[in-house]
Amino acid sequence: MQNTVNILVLVSGNGSNLQALINAGQHGELGAGRIVATMADRTGIYALERAWLANVQALAETPNMTLPIAQRRQDLSDRILQFCHERDIGLIVLAGFLSILAGDIIREYAGRIINLHPSLLPKFGGVGMYGTRVHQAVLDAGEPESGCTVHLVDADADTGPILLQRRVPVLVSDTAAALAERIHHEEHIAIVEGTALMVARIAARYASPQTKHVSVCSGLVTSLEAGSRCVKRPLG
Ligand code: GRF
Repeated sequence: MQNTVNILVLVSGNGSNLQALINAGQHGELGAGRIVATMADRTGIYALERAWLANVQALAETPNMTLPIAQRRQDLSDRILQFCHERDIGLIVLAGFLSILAGDIIREYAGRIINLHPSLLPKFGGVGMYGTRVHQAVLDAGEPESGCTVHLVDADADTGPILLQRRVPVLVSDTAAALAERIHHEEHIAIVEGTALMVARIAARYASPQTKHVSVCSGLVTSLEAGSRCVKRPLG
């Protein structure tokens, strides 16, 4: 019987959300979850140093830029999946990861990959919506509030079932940078809450030998958008 849920955190930048997860793990806030590795899609980023400083395996798998975009996504995703097999990863957390996953990893880890997005999805999501662009779009649209979303990852960008959201008001005086900073604070709470929720559900299934299939998202989804779905997959 397996109790520990091995977590892989995927990153592309500063890694403050990774740090929130590392801190939470050190304080026992991730339950049976253990961050066993951090993988980046680029080198030289501070997130990898944070992992290294915390004695978490830190590695980079960079996209093969000679491949066309669809193949490039698939190729990178397949290398990440291979690593997941090697390290017996139970949960994949995208914490500021800018590459888009595709192919087998989406199917095999359906319901076990979560992403953090800095807006109240389904608003202001999709390909190319990241960082300052998101916050500027929120300001341009005159939104009264924004926030962040933790959601399950499916085959499209930012469309999977929503696990939880945290909201902040948009102030008249806000710049994109000021709004981003306020949301970042909420992200650090949301990513820990979302990860802990998923760990609890996956660990419970590990502990239930009769369970052949698991709908990881059932019971966790607080806000399902039209068209979103939960996929039943064997946990293996
Ligand atoms: C966060 O705003 C997250 O929502 C987005 O990328 C940013 C990552 O920040 N996907 P950090 O690298 O964790 O500091």
